[in-house]
Amino acid sequence: MEHNAIKRIGVLTSGGDAPGMNAAIRAIVRSASTYDISVLGIRRGYSGLLHGDMIELTGRSVDGLLPRGGTMLYTARCPEMHTEDGLEKAANMCRYMGMDGLVVIGGDGSFRGALALSQKGVPTVGVPATIDNDIVCTDYTIGFDTACNTAIDCIDKLRDTMQSHERCSVVEVTGRKAGHLALHVGVAVGATCTLLPEHTTDFHAGVIEPIRMGRLGGRHHHIIIVAEGYGSAQEVAVKVEEATGIDTRVTILGHIQRGGTPSAQDRVIATQMGYHAVKALMEGKRQRVVSYDGRNVTDYDIEEGLSREKHLDFGLFEVEQTVAT
Ligand code: F6P
Repeated sequence: MEHNAIKRIGVLTSGGDAPGMNAAIRAIVRSASTYDISVLGIRRGYSGLLHGDMIELTGRSVDGLLPRGGTMLYTARCPEMHTEDGLEKAANMCRYMGMDGLVVIGGDGSFRGALALSQKGVPTVGVPATIDNDIVCTDYTIGFDTACNTAIDCIDKLRDTMQSHERCSVVEVTGRKAGHLALHVGVAVGATCTLLPEHTTDFHAGVIEPIRMGRLGGRHHHIIIVAEGYGSAQEVAVKVEEATGIDTRVTILGHIQRGGTPSAQDRVIATQMGYHAVKALMEGKRQRVVSYDGRNVTDYDIEEGLSREKHLDFGLFEVEQTVAT
């Protein structure tokens, strides 16, 4: 890696936390210290930036972080960053603290803040992290694999009791705007059906009929996965029970999916992305977002990256529907 003028950078985590954020922080700090760049850890996201809530991070201070879920820097949502005053204050704080660059670990809301800061002269790089995997410019976001595994583990446990009682289980998984997590979980647990915000399901044909077919074929329990953004899991359960007479229970997995020790995949990709973010700043890049396409870690202009579209994997959805009953 070539020598450069970057002497000090800041790093913050913002928005909903995700397993692997700590691994990314560790990789950023260790990569930077290898190249004699000092790192300021900004606590509580942009809110900490506005208030100067920062700590010096060294290679040693990030020891033991790889297996830890959550974020050692804490995270927050910061409405002030949506105002011109807030942005000006944040850019001035970066300059005042002598930061030659800022790495923002978070989702696309966090990257909009990074974009605005870079337009005010602060070189920024975004590292995508959210369990929802709904960031448009990357195929993968840190935390997705761990969240899938956590949900699968919970649902496998639920299956035992649903099987014993011959019930139907309606499980809501997170994904306010996107069904990536729900779809992967649905495939992995062999759900009877999966309800997604991206797809309009005819309730009778897509939910009731597969349950009826399953029952005729001798299946005594059923699992329905509902993405948070689809609608109310409770209403789905009421309709299923009314139409089939099967005793139905609702489980909302919620924030439990955001916790836990990161999987191997999340640790590895977070480490690659953290390293890549530092490298990008050293190469004089600014206003970038790191991206992973299943093979390579690369980076894009944030504005261009955020204007892309990300579609649900409808091929996988078709596979799921084909093998469900
Ligand atoms: O991090 C993503 C996510 O878990 C969404 O799927 C969910 O809707 C949201 O965060 C919940 O956020 P909060 O922390 O505000 O409850």
